[in-house]
Amino acid sequence: MLNRSLDSLAQAVVGHSLADRELEAEEIMDDPDCDLEGLRRTYQQFVVVNRLVSGWRGVYVHRLRPLLSAERTTTLLDIGSGGGDVPRALAGWAARDGLRLEITAIDPDDRATAYATSLPPVPHLRFRQCFSSDLVREGARFDIVTSNHVLHHLGPQQLDGLLADSTDLARRLVVHDDIARSPLAALGYWVGTLPLHRRGRPHASFVRDDGLLSIRRSYTPDELAAVLPAGWTVGRAPFRVLAVLDVAQNAETPPEASAAAVRGESTTSVRGETAVTTPDGADRA
Ligand SMILES: C[S@@+](CC[C@H](N)C(=O)[O-])C[C@H]1O[C@@H](n2cnc3c(N)ncnc32)[C@H](O)[C@@H]1O
Repeated sequence: MLNRSLDSLAQAVVGHSLADRELEAEEIMDDPDCDLEGLRRTYQQFVVVNRLVSGWRGVYVHRLRPLLSAERTTTLLDIGSGGGDVPRALAGWAARDGLRLEITAIDPDDRATAYATSLPPVPHLRFRQCFSSDLVREGARFDIVTSNHVLHHLGPQQLDGLLADSTDLARRLVVHDDIARSPLAALGYWVGTLPLHRRGRPHASFVRDDGLLSIRRSYTPDELAAVLPAGWTVGRAPFRVLAVLDVAQNAETPPEASAAAVRGESTTSVRGETAVTTPDGADRA
């Protein structure tokens, strides 16, 4: 009831219902002919947006840091790194904690790689222009594989490809972090980015338009659970949804989870609590 009222409000204010995923419209930054100065400003402003809404500090503290060590180097691959602010933040936090982390950040978009490598270098972080599938072909492996705001960009085949690539590339853990679609997220972002409206501003960033479209393209937790292969779990955080593959835990899969996988269900685990999410979204403890 409340969600329906919020959706009507979002439809009136934002101009779109959030009830179903947007599958057709594409973001301005994905247009190869988009304004390059606008794109540069978009990468710049995504640093602030990601810091405020993407929750990577929590992912680092609760999911990644426990795997890192001060004596032994851990390797991490960030897929679809764009302007590179998330891998930069991860490298900085690990260094501050005295933990040895070597990060490879990849993106096939030459404009993203050019922007990321134009910024001052950060120790233990390198950028590379390639697809995740290129690394699979090379036989590369990393302890941890991450991505931020990539899942909602992809069509069904590309999503399957990314999940398969991450499974091949990760030795221990995969965390794909993305926005959770909701009318409240769209309304909040619409209000919060009002000062960034592009109308009448040459070379303005696309952060408002692309961010709003990203929310409309994103998954709800139940929708994500329905498209993840067996063995993957859905993590939830405020306004966020995470596709998680715990490779180490899967090696010792409990019988309940194995049975769920056979039935085509996915298991949801948040900080030690595990629930099984059926394809129709009903949770069973
Ligand atoms: C919205 S951007 C996200 C950028 C950045 N992670 C951020 O949070 O600002 C999504 C990026 O994923 C990249 N991408 C999509 N599929 C990919 C794949 N299979 N391997 C590597 N990068 C990919 C695209 O080129 C695009 O730059």
